[in-house]
Amino acid sequence: NFPEKVSIRDVTLRDGLQNESVFIEAENKLGGLNEIIDAGFRRIEVTSFVHPKWVPALSDADELAKRLPKIPGIQYDALVPNIKGLERFLKTNIDTAVFFLSASTKHNEANLNRTTNESLVHVSDLISKTRSHNRKTMGAVATAFVCPYAGEVPYQEVERIVTTMVENGVDEVGLGDTIGKATPKMIYEYCSRIKDKYPDLTLSLHLHDTYGYALANIIAGIQSGVYIYDTAQAGLGGCPYAPGAPGNVQASQVVNFLERQGIETGIDIDKLKNTDQMFQDMVKKQTSV
Ligand code: HMG
Ligand code: MG
Repeated sequence: NFPEKVSIRDVTLRDGLQNESVFIEAENKLGGLNEIIDAGFRRIEVTSFVHPKWVPALSDADELAKRLPKIPGIQYDALVPNIKGLERFLKTNIDTAVFFLSASTKHNEANLNRTTNESLVHVSDLISKTRSHNRKTMGAVATAFVCPYAGEVPYQEVERIVTTMVENGVDEVGLGDTIGKATPKMIYEYCSRIKDKYPDLTLSLHLHDTYGYALANIIAGIQSGVYIYDTAQAGLGGCPYAPGAPGNVQASQVVNFLERQGIETGIDIDKLKNTDQMFQDMVKKQTSV
């Protein structure tokens, strides 16, 4: 069962850069953003309203948000870790607030300084507050399959989190393979079960490609009915609080892989060679294949 179209959400400017030691000026990030838009991406996660101490690479979030080009049809997303982050988000015109927590409580403690259950209460409140301002919300579940500290995460944990988000009226949910250790079998099983339980839920996958499983995992995701995938230019990315989590699946690889199978992405593959190079130049290293 192959769909005609799949949507791709670019996370280069957020996940792609959050773990980089080189600080990239807003001006250069905006230059990169223009190329991403020019290549055909319509959904772009641009930054995170996180404390600069936690993620210095994104310390210019407020400035960047003010300078985003307003283009009809482009949807901007930003990560929002807490209430302070939400106050900053609400002062911008960014479309979607992405709230995140980890299905594995060990990773949640490393990443958010609290247990998964504490975060779930917090995220539920943030979703309600954001909805009352008529802004879009997305729930991102990190370590939805495998945790760097606790190993495989039971499906029931993921379902419990998704259920709470859905009950609080979240607009969409993304499941994250934070360290790239999920197998196609796991992706198929977890996503099929979520889709069976919530057929109308907009569900996406955020796949890190540490061990080269991500393309296989996309096929498993497609088979389970997931049609939105996160990618990054030059395969950049990683969570600073997840050891061994380099690299989101590379945009040019995914586009090529899907288009060769007749699945439309709306993205101009020829332009992605330039964006791959441009971002590698920005971070001053070679990451792309
Ligand atoms: P904490 O230290 O417990 O924070 O961290 P706090 O609430 O105690 O606040 C400490 C100080 O920071 C206070 O200032 C706050 O006002 C300030 P003071 O009163 O001492 O002067 N502060 C802020 N300032 C600006 N913006 C803010 C903010 N928040 C607090 N937003 C906290 C708790 C949640 C803040 C921290 O743990 C945190 O931000 N963690 C986020 C870590 C992160 O961003 N990780 C990477 C993203 S997740 C990811 O990459 C996975 C994903 O890609 C999916 C996948 O791969 O699977 C999404
Ligand atoms: Mg990530």
